[in-house]
Amino acid sequence: MPKRRAKNLKNLKRLKNRCILLGVSGGVAAYKSVELARRLTDEEASVFVVMTEAAKQFATPLSFETASHNRVYSSLFDEPMAHISLPAKADCMVVAPATANTIAKFAHGLADDLLSTCFLSFRGNVIVAPSMNWKMYDNPVVRRNLDALASAGVAQVGPGSGALACGEEGVGRMAEPAEIVEAVRAALSEKNLSGERVVITAGPTREYLDPVRFISNRSSGKMGYALARTARDRGAEVTLISGPSFLGKPAGVAYIGVETTSEMLGAVTEAVAKGATVLVMAAAVADFSPVRESRLKIEKGRGLTLKLSPTKDIVTSVSSSRKRPFIIGFAAETGSRADRAAKKMKEKKMDMIVFNDVTEPGAGFDVDTNKVEIIDRRGRIHTGLMSKDDVADAIFDRFLEIKA
Ligand code: CTP
Repeated sequence: MPKRRAKNLKNLKRLKNRCILLGVSGGVAAYKSVELARRLTDEEASVFVVMTEAAKQFATPLSFETASHNRVYSSLFDEPMAHISLPAKADCMVVAPATANTIAKFAHGLADDLLSTCFLSFRGNVIVAPSMNWKMYDNPVVRRNLDALASAGVAQVGPGSGALACGEEGVGRMAEPAEIVEAVRAALSEKNLSGERVVITAGPTREYLDPVRFISNRSSGKMGYALARTARDRGAEVTLISGPSFLGKPAGVAYIGVETTSEMLGAVTEAVAKGATVLVMAAAVADFSPVRESRLKIEKGRGLTLKLSPTKDIVTSVSSSRKRPFIIGFAAETGSRADRAAKKMKEKKMDMIVFNDVTEPGAGFDVDTNKVEIIDRRGRIHTGLMSKDDVADAIFDRFLEIKA
């Protein structure tokens, strides 16, 4: 591999400098949208909030001003051209909470306040996050209005089910802010991976000693799931093959749950054979397996000496096959051992390897951030500490560079 100075990648954020118009209508979930505004500004997006009169009964403009670092708009007449100028500078419009009334106005083109006029003049991706009582949400009239919005190209996120403000249970809870941010990221993603068929592995694998005990590792699956969401958002057809994880299955990807290394090997081989163009091995595959798996629970007795044998290497099995996809591996090491990772890449015939030092703060297990070095035949790139979603973007950006 040519010795090149590692490039530093800083501030790679998909939402950075993007302008989001956040509409807030009058539902009790309005308070959750304050957090949504804060999360969007944390991602360095500029956020402009438009509140309906009813929304101000549930959350104060001051809260949104503080969270968005911008003044809040509400009246149609204070600045008569705001309904044109605000949408004109926005890249995406999000309405959260979207009440039954606001949804009805949008669906029928009513334009009697700032939010509904903004909706009509906006040319771009709109996302609504409905929030209402389950009986209202279930009402065919509301459903028809939402269908009308969907056929006009408006995306919907949520609602979820659970306890509602009225004390009843059902479907009608506004989607959580994290889920809405994800929908915004998806809406603003350039579809530059369309045509790619990406297989991603995530999480740990387990090797059983007996029916109740296994050997595994601390992987949460967060990096692999972030890669799956990101590839999906960027237009790829994604298959996520995951070991046991507490994370929710990402929507819009083919999901295959596995437990052991040999199950993962089987699933990867099958998915690759179906014509994958990229394989990303983000899973922390168990390296050893008990030589013998007891059919019955092993009794405590006087202690136990385990005899282990190495598991089959999944990535090598794919890289040595005749019709191989572009292969991206991971190397989670303890200490600054990028050279060891580079060696692994060569030995396992991968096209790229993503090295991280799990002892670094914010780059270990079960956290939402990572700090990696992307190594390939052309050089090395340091990402700096960033969210796993942004690391996933950096990896696919590099893949596109290499492929070009
Ligand atoms: N990997 C694999 N099959 C295995 C073990 C690992 O496909 N049985 C993949 C991992 O998913 C990762 C890459 O190989 O993408 C490197 O894994 P890592 O555990 O870092 O390396 P090992 O080869 O297992 O070596 P060591 O444990 O000695 O670091």
